[in-house]
Amino acid sequence: MDNEMNKLLTEYQKDGFKLKNHLVMAPMTRSRAIGNLPNDIMVQYYTQRAGAGLIVTEGTAPTPEGLGYARIPGIFSDEQTEAWKKVSAAVHQAGSKIFMQLMHTGRIAHVHNLPPGIRVIGVSDITAGGQMWTDQEGLLPHSEPEALTTSGVVDVIDGFVKAAQNAVKAGFDGIELHNANGYLLEQFLNPNVNTRTDQYGGSIENRSRAVLEIVEKTANAIGKEKVGIRFSPFGTYNDMAAYDRDEVKATYKYLTEKLDEIGIAYIHLSLSPDVDDATLQTMRQHFAGTIILCNGFMPETAEKALGEGIADVIAFGQPFLANPDLVTRIEAGAPLNTPDYDTFYTPGETGYIDYPTLILADQ
Ligand SMILES: Cc1cc2nc3c(=O)[nH]c(=O)nc-3n(C[C@H](O)[C@H](O)[C@H](O)COP(=O)(O)O)c2cc1C
Repeated sequence: MDNEMNKLLTEYQKDGFKLKNHLVMAPMTRSRAIGNLPNDIMVQYYTQRAGAGLIVTEGTAPTPEGLGYARIPGIFSDEQTEAWKKVSAAVHQAGSKIFMQLMHTGRIAHVHNLPPGIRVIGVSDITAGGQMWTDQEGLLPHSEPEALTTSGVVDVIDGFVKAAQNAVKAGFDGIELHNANGYLLEQFLNPNVNTRTDQYGGSIENRSRAVLEIVEKTANAIGKEKVGIRFSPFGTYNDMAAYDRDEVKATYKYLTEKLDEIGIAYIHLSLSPDVDDATLQTMRQHFAGTIILCNGFMPETAEKALGEGIADVIAFGQPFLANPDLVTRIEAGAPLNTPDYDTFYTPGETGYIDYPTLILADQ
């Protein structure tokens, strides 16, 4: 290896969590799943990117209510579970590991995007500001959510557990719970969105209860070493109004301690400029498992971050989206393709499986 990526490109191992390198492909919704089913171009897309030590799939709905965006996949039916087997098998064949990201969109949804008869649900009945794409009518405001009853929350929890079991049945190495970016699980954490008065609202412990029950039950069902979780502390994406910084810190400290007790494989942090070093240090101090850092990394900054004590491995989003052979390019010190924003979420092959790979001079 003749470049400076000494750690990034080498094998990673902690507590039996073993990756061929320190690169993770970050979860990215690509909206190619017509009928909410994985298909052949998705198999090709993920296989092309198997240079990653770990691939985390696009957000995948654990229940029909979680399908808030157009053309995103699910993992609640037998047909979906069967179809996902092709993705996991091809990625394994190509030499990578793959976790499925379980994303319940909650109030970030439009009823047009849901299967017939399925309603938009939320932690409370507060509609999210902003708009979302529907194939029927273009951009529309988010639908008003129906607040979950207490037994409705229990159904959601059971849905996540069943989905995790389906993911394992479909050959995945594990699952990542999407507790970031303003989707259902993060909606529970935020007191401006969660105005519940039952055991799932109010105190930090209560707002953290749903996700911790999901983690615990999922870990029991499929194995704690197969469970990861994604957080975006201080994030305001998807109309998550900021709340008291000390309370945010206390929330993530509490969650980190509990997750450490359960002993899950990893915490995946989606960083923003609002995440201060002290918060990261606290999480590192209280969590013995793997910490993945993501957002805005390039190979050089990733290599540097690996030496700084918080991150065990680094996830790349757009660099992997636009460079199927990202790892080869890093090895060769080659330039990276630029992502085409216009085709991030459009159906079909363009901007999905047609990014050029490097043609090495000696081949
Ligand atoms: C097209 C696209 C779709 C995304 N979809 C998801 C998603 O489904 N789940 C998720 O947790 N993050 C999602 N993200 C966020 C990425 O995982 C990542 O945090 C973000 O791209 C920043 O990392 P980067 O600078 O390496 O691209 C998405 C990002 C992009 C560009």
